[in-house]
Amino acid sequence: MTADAYESDLPRPGGLPQRARRAAATVLGRRRPMVDAGIEEYAQTHSSPQSPALAAVAADTRRLSDRPFMMSDAPQAHLLATLVHLGRARNVLEIGTFTGYSALAMASALPEGGRITTCEIDTGNAAIAAGHFAASPHADRIDLRVGPALPTVRNLPGPFDLVFIDADKTGYVRYFEAVLPKLSPHGVIAVDNTLHSGLVPQDPEERVMVRALHEFNTLLRHDRRVEQVMLTVRDGITLIRLTS
Ligand SMILES: C[S@@+](CC[C@H](N)C(=O)[O-])C[C@H]1O[C@@H](n2cnc3c(N)ncnc32)[C@H](O)[C@@H]1O
Repeated sequence: MTADAYESDLPRPGGLPQRARRAAATVLGRRRPMVDAGIEEYAQTHSSPQSPALAAVAADTRRLSDRPFMMSDAPQAHLLATLVHLGRARNVLEIGTFTGYSALAMASALPEGGRITTCEIDTGNAAIAAGHFAASPHADRIDLRVGPALPTVRNLPGPFDLVFIDADKTGYVRYFEAVLPKLSPHGVIAVDNTLHSGLVPQDPEERVMVRALHEFNTLLRHDRRVEQVMLTVRDGITLIRLTS
């Protein structure tokens, strides 16, 4: 795709709710949800509350990290746990651990004998996550792999019932291609931030990210191997399954 075609295919500034962006930017750092801030708040209030264990991990993350906005929020944690529950997932893969919040949310919904492998490249983040995992009653279900995710994923046999892709956005196509052959027939790939920033970048760093996300979204749209739905939860989560 040429740069011009890319630009013309993206939403225009002002095409998405500015008020929601401003309100959310205050709370979430760079994350901007797609729906009105009041609706977002109502949805949060009327979803189950965050567990005390996850609330403690979130508080610890805000204390220890200068990028706490990278962490999933409570509704997203419930969504991930519900996907584990719904798919009766036993083997879960996460790409992008950060401080372990989403991994712990998914681990809490696993059945006896279930397992989550979670990949993190940053040793500082991995050390914080390891502490959170060790303090959890679900520590034995979590396998933390420190290093770049791609070689790790290529060495894992699968099949995976649920994959959560939530690391560097420019790697999404490679992660997707690496995990797709290892997805179980009823498996789901959940991809985070697919509507990041309303796909309207605010600075050069976001521009690279948004371009990569748009290219990923476009590839997916034309990929006959899979069917997908893009949810406007937070800043977009795409759920992908094999074509039936
Ligand atoms: C958005 S955060 C993950 C948030 C986490 N899933 C959660 O919801 O709490 C992305 C993480 O991916 C990690 N990361 C970036 N590139 C990576 C790579 N190539 N392999 C593994 N992890 C990577 C970053 O260090 C960061 O901690």
